[in-house]
Amino acid sequence: MHVPDEIRPLILDTFLYHAAYGQFATVNQSSIPSVRTVHFHFIPDRDQLVVSTNLKSEKCTHIQHNPFVSGCYWYQQKGVQIRFQATASIISENDVVKDPLLETMWNKMRTEVRLAYALNDHQIPMYRENVNADTAIHSPNHALIVCTPLRWDVFYENPSQYRMGKRAIYTQNFEN
Ligand SMILES: Cc1cc2nc3c(=O)[nH]c(=O)nc-3n(C[C@H](O)[C@H](O)[C@H](O)COP(=O)(O)O)c2cc1C
Repeated sequence: MHVPDEIRPLILDTFLYHAAYGQFATVNQSSIPSVRTVHFHFIPDRDQLVVSTNLKSEKCTHIQHNPFVSGCYWYQQKGVQIRFQATASIISENDVVKDPLLETMWNKMRTEVRLAYALNDHQIPMYRENVNADTAIHSPNHALIVCTPLRWDVFYENPSQYRMGKRAIYTQNFEN
């Protein structure tokens, strides 16, 4: 289990029932971090967070050298900041054993995002008008970054007094 029971309802609400666009950082071979916005998806039966991405992206290269990420999501409506550190691995069509999650997540992506993959695959300029591509065909460049949390750091903002906010940190064995 990679999610402590105490925050499971929060994690499900944030990353499963709600579209969570947050940021995560990877680190390159010179230890320089890069942060960018991604769409986090929680996969309940695996207890992992997954991000769809292009296999050729910089973040994948970083993870191939340094298999760790640090993520952050500010859930404004709830006044909660969720941070996590995780080990990261990549699932792609290059894997010997195909993981069905890859195609499931492809089908969850918006058609317009799948279209961008298709254009990229066929080296068609992104800004061309009236393009026609089959967005149902799974792009060989679509990959998943699978994040297995090692640490959760949750900050519950107190809306009237910042200093009264509460922070809960859970490390791998999830003792508070
Ligand atoms: C709202 C929003 C959501 C995004 N979601 C994703 C995503 O889920 N996966 C992804 O690879 N890039 C996503 N991007 C694009 C990344 O932020 C980034 O620009 C791109 O992936 C290249 O990153 P890299 O060169 O650091 O690998 C998103 C951008 C925005 C603005």
